[in-house]
Amino acid sequence: MPLPKAELHLHIEGTLEPELAFALAARNDVPLPYADTEELRRAYLFDDLQSFLDLYYGLMAVLRTEDDFAELADAYLARAAAQGVRHAEIFFDPQAHTARGVPLDTVIDGLSRALNASQERHGVSTRLILCFLRDQSAESALATLEAAKPHLHRITAVGLDSAEVGHPPAKFREVYEMAAALGLRRVAHAGEEGPPEYIRQALDILGVERIDHGLRCVEDPELVARLVRDRVPLTLCPLSNVRLRAIDVLEAHPLPRMMEAGLLCTVNSDDPAYFGGYVDDTFHAVREALGLSEERLRELARNSFEAAFLDDDEALRQRYLAEVAAYEFA
Ligand code: ADE
Ligand code: ZN
Repeated sequence: MPLPKAELHLHIEGTLEPELAFALAARNDVPLPYADTEELRRAYLFDDLQSFLDLYYGLMAVLRTEDDFAELADAYLARAAAQGVRHAEIFFDPQAHTARGVPLDTVIDGLSRALNASQERHGVSTRLILCFLRDQSAESALATLEAAKPHLHRITAVGLDSAEVGHPPAKFREVYEMAAALGLRRVAHAGEEGPPEYIRQALDILGVERIDHGLRCVEDPELVARLVRDRVPLTLCPLSNVRLRAIDVLEAHPLPRMMEAGLLCTVNSDDPAYFGGYVDDTFHAVREALGLSEERLRELARNSFEAAFLDDDEALRQRYLAEVAAYEFA
């Protein structure tokens, strides 16, 4: 039985496995520039974040109907449950779909259908996080949040993703102010490829409660001290960092040093269809490569529930934490 955990950094579009991509391409009559799933998998050799994003946005062309989004999310939740995930906070990229002519309602209705059935079908509680694409304009982000207003009861938080360098958090001050006024929680990718300064901006200007990745905080001891003091959760994604060449090899990942320093770290899968593993695969990989003790793994699981947006159901959080405490490693 896998260690119970929450997944807090997961792009639903990044769970599109080659087999489902080809099935949806056939169903929707969308041409793909790959002969088969093998050829597509062979394209998963990335130099950096941008080279991954080019493929990731391209493959989304197969997602067209409400059923497609529901199937995608349900397939992820089934896999997540098998990996010990009890609670999943799921990112989606509305602008990547509306720009292709897929209505926002189609995306949110499809995802919500799978998420609403998840507790009963898979035993996984869920939250939905709407992400703005930071390489699009601030006006486009504002229009996206405006368009999402009829769906706010199904959205817990806003996030910020896509190409980081050259698109600092400060660019999105206004839309994050609007999100806060609407009662939404706030997170943002920062310090994946971008400098520590982007992490500071995400905290100071966007008012985020968690930093997605945050890897490059280790370059700035003062920032580390602040993140430790304020118990700001970091949603780290070690397999993603290796595949996108933020670090050379998993053995060089700073996770053990970060935990040692007192940072509130969590381990997540980011885009598991592309990066070679779902979240329990990631736990196993870091255990092997970094020699993490069972107590460190338990701490990561505990952190994931402590950092989860479960404030509206503290009883559920406590139940999950009790499961982590009682877990016996094989
Ligand atoms: N969108 C999907 N995965 C991402 C990542 N790792 N960083 C930024 N944007 C993303
Ligand atoms: Zn991400």
